[in-house]
Amino acid sequence: MDLRDKVVLVTGAGRRVGRTIAGSFAARGAISAIHYRSSQREAQEVVGEIVSKGGRARSFHADLEKVSEIEAMVSEVLATLGHIDVLVNSASVFTRKPLEEVTERDWDVNLNTNLKAPFFLAKFAGLQMRKLGAGKIVNIGDWAGIRPYNNYLPYTVSKTGLIGLTRALAKALAPEVQVNCVALGPVLAPDEYRSEDIAKMVAGTLTKKMGSPEDVARAVLFFCEGTDFATGATLLVDGGRLIA
Ligand SMILES: NC(=O)c1ccc[n+]([C@@H]2O[C@H](COP(=O)([O-])OP(=O)(O)OC[C@H]3O[C@@H](n4cnc5c(N)ncnc54)[C@H](OP(=O)(O)O)[C@@H]3O)[C@@H](O)[C@H]2O)c1
Repeated sequence: MDLRDKVVLVTGAGRRVGRTIAGSFAARGAISAIHYRSSQREAQEVVGEIVSKGGRARSFHADLEKVSEIEAMVSEVLATLGHIDVLVNSASVFTRKPLEEVTERDWDVNLNTNLKAPFFLAKFAGLQMRKLGAGKIVNIGDWAGIRPYNNYLPYTVSKTGLIGLTRALAKALAPEVQVNCVALGPVLAPDEYRSEDIAKMVAGTLTKKMGSPEDVARAVLFFCEGTDFATGATLLVDGGRLIA
């Protein structure tokens, strides 16, 4: 897909990995729809940065735990920007909890945000892509969706589900829309991680280094502009963490 003048909705795009993904689409001439929940100031900064470089962007708010807000946001993007050609599901929660402390609410937050929201975003945006005759959806997963981390049980299961959702949506939205997943290894440590935690993450990879948000953005772009023939695929961008 030629990304020029295409509308790209990136969730969780005010900060960190989602922000870099949104910027990389803007650099290709796409119109960025920057989704945020609490990072309003950061989302406005992203819009400002893109516009200052001659690009086009708008920010949109939704709490992705609420399907009604997802539906309202997709309608707002369509009303404002006319269409959605690409959806990147990057927003996620990632909370450490030993098994003994996992609650029903932990399950709900992880599944609602990391699995149910990508489904409803894909449903509302994907049905409209179908009408357009073309579209791309990229889900941002985790190598731990294949081999689970300890102490992140609802999170890892949500990311296992996301790989299954990618395949199921690829079938449901074929042939017009291609749906793929980029499963990450360590690219950006959570803000609260200490240097010892980061050293451990690096040691766990085959590449002996962290990836970067730019590595992720390039993989997402590959699925959107590099090929129309991949669908239902999960690409590991994990520094070899899965097989280490
Ligand atoms: N960072 C890594 O090394 C790494 C490794 C493996 C996989 N991944 C995956 O890569 C993706 C991006 O990673 P990241 O580290 O940039 O993510 P992150 O910082 O943990 O979260 C990204 C954004 O998700 C949004 N979010 C969380 N709950 C939400 C809700 N209920 N409604 C709406 N938005 C919500 C937040 O937006 P607001 O700030 O606006 O509230 C947050 O800024 C995620 O899917 C993650 O699982 C990342």
